[in-house]
Parts: sequence; C-alpha cells; structure tokens
Amino acid sequence: MAIRGASIEFREVRKTYGDFVALESFSMDVAPGEFMTLLGPSGSGKTTALNSLAGFVDINQGDILIDGVSIARMPTEKRNIGMVFQNYSLFPHRNVLANVAFPLEMRGVAKSEILNRSMKALEMVRLDGLAKRMPHELSGGQKQRVAFARAVVFEPRVLLMDEPLGALDLKLREALQIEIKQYQREIGCTVIYVTHDQGEALALSDRLAVMEKGAIRQLGTPEDLYDRPNSRFVAEFIGSNNILKIRGQTEEGVLVEGLGVVRIPAMSGHAGGFVALRPEHIRRSSGENWPVTVRQAVFFGDAVRYVVEAKDGTTFSFVESRQPGTEISAPGASIGIAFDEDNITLLPA
Ligand SMILES: Nc1ncnc2c1ncn2[C@@H]1O[C@H](COP(=O)(O)OP(=O)(O)OP(=O)(O)O)[C@@H](O)[C@H]1O
Ligand SMILES: [Mg+2]
Repeated sequence: MAIRGASIEFREVRKTYGDFVALESFSMDVAPGEFMTLLGPSGSGKTTALNSLAGFVDINQGDILIDGVSIARMPTEKRNIGMVFQNYSLFPHRNVLANVAFPLEMRGVAKSEILNRSMKALEMVRLDGLAKRMPHELSGGQKQRVAFARAVVFEPRVLLMDEPLGALDLKLREALQIEIKQYQREIGCTVIYVTHDQGEALALSDRLAVMEKGAIRQLGTPEDLYDRPNSRFVAEFIGSNNILKIRGQTEEGVLVEGLGVVRIPAMSGHAGGFVALRPEHIRRSSGENWPVTVRQAVFFGDAVRYVVEAKDGTTFSFVESRQPGTEISAPGASIGIAFDEDNITLLPA
C-alpha cells in the first residue's frame, strides 16, 4: 500500500453560518505526503475547515485545490478523500471485514479483489484476526483501527482525521499516535489531522497550524511554534509557559514583572507587551541568582514542578528534573533561581 499523496491548497476560504464567521481568510498549503495538523480551541473552525475540504460544507468565498484542481464545487464522493472521525462511525450491522470492504463495494471493485485488499488493510492495523467480529464486540482502540483501515482501503491520496483519538484514554491515545504516524509513512497519503491536544499535535505533525476564531494564527513546524511563538495566544496554547508583563524599559534592559531587569533587545511595539519564559528554562541556582519563595511543589516522578513567588508578588513556575534522592523544597522555602536571557521570547501586546 504505497501511493503518492496529493497537494492541498486552501485559498482565502470564508465560511459563514448566518451572521457567524466560522472561517475567515483561511489559507494553507499542504505538500504531498505531509502530515499537517489543525490545532485550536473548541469552536475555532477546525472541523469546518476539514469538512469544507471533504465536501460536507459549502464555502462562501475562496477556493480549495487538490493537486492544483479546484474541488470547491465537486461532489463529495468525487473528491476521493478518506476520513476518520472521533466517534468511529462504523456500520453496526456489518462485521469488521464488511465495514472495511464498504468503500471498495461503493467503487465497484471486483469481489475477489475486495477481499484481498480489505484483508491487507486489516493486516496493517493488526486486526486480521478479528475480521468476523461485530463492531460492538470491539474495544475503542480496535474500533478506531477498523475505522482507519476503512478510510485507507481505497488508497485515497488525502486522508482527513477529526479528533480520531478523542474518545480514548491517554495510554491508548499515545500508542495509537505512534501507529497512525507509522501507517501514514507506509501509505504515503497526505494527512490533515484535527486535534485540540497540543501534545498530540507536536508529536505527530510535520507542520501544524494554530487556529483561533476561524483564522490561522501561526503555521510552522512543531519546533517553530514551540521555540518561536508569534503571539501570546500561541505561547500559551503550545506547551506550558510563564507569560509575564513588561513593566517598562531601563538603560540596562527591559523591566519584567517577577524577573526584574532582563537584558533583552528592546523592540518597538513591545511597550505594554509580554515575555514568555518556559518552566524548563528556569533552574535552581545557588550562585548569582534571583531570590524567590516556593509556594507549591508538585511531584511528577521524573521532575518536580515548582510554583514560586518573586519579591514583587508575581508567581511563575519552573521544572526541575529529578533523580532518586533529590530533595524537594517545601512551600515557604527561600531558594535562588536563574535563567538564560536567550530563552526569553518577546510577545507583542
Ligand atoms: N451548522 C452550523 N450552524 C451554525 N454554526 C455552526 C455550524 N457548524 C459549526 N458552527 C459554528 O462554527 C464554529 C466553528 O465550528 P467547528 O466545528 O469548525 O469548530 P472546531 O474547531 O472543530 O471545534 P471543536 O474542537 O469543538 O470540535 C463554532 O462556533 C460552531 O458553533
Ligand atoms: Mg471539531
């Protein structure tokens, strides 16, 4: 099962529901074989974007192209797109094999070939042993593997997944994330994946687009978005971050609440702005340091997450990795911390 994925292009797409604007100037290029994720809070327009590509939603303005051909007016079934939804949507009265075979039957594929190709798809998701089971006899993870096999059995060059792991518990979700990535590499199809789980987006994607209120706020590789967020929204949405207010500017640098004066290049437009400093970029330091008081210490096994309070009353957090025997500072303890000014990101107001 190896194919060439298609390229996808959204051009200035606008979609409204009555007065409500669900997508606004939505533009995005996805390369053949790329794993692209739409990440954003509930209601940000992720499903609307996916459904407009699949053909379940008619767009008001703009265009959508697959391999350079406009599909905006093409009927859903002609678009030849595979889809996986959160709720599995298996046919309850068909067994596993018949579920997977369905898209091939629809396309009039010869009977002998249907069996062969359906079993191959089930082998890929390691469910060939359960071909005769009914959907209600499967676990959530197995159901989603069947849904995945059914979505790719006709070798679509585009595969769309809308929160496919949303109904599963954390351990299973993590295991299936690895599987999905592996299947996609095997198949070679282009994927657009929707999630509101930022950890999942970072783990799976070649690139991801962070959406808010129907528009893309930032698009880039996981490293781009994690290391160089362009806004407070992205800085807070991806990973955990301390967002601290800029209080003013001095000869030596920028005055930041909680951190004091930091020597970062002041940029115009940042008056009234914020800085972001990730918890893992702050460390305990006994030498030259910044004094703080521990307010909370949360044990995570391999790390301790501290909430500390600076002299000006600002609280922020840092993470200390931990070996067995590392002492944990109790609430009320005075400790010193340090951070590297290179790791501070300036954010516009
Ligand atoms: N058929 C509809 N009629 C009216 N409003 C709609 C319709 N479908 C979606 N919306 C609205 O459009 C906005 C975007 O919806 P969409 O389903 O794309 O969000 P989402 O990012 O997928 O959210 P979630 O994470 O909750 O699935 C929401 O505010 C939603 O209420
Ligand atoms: Mg949705």
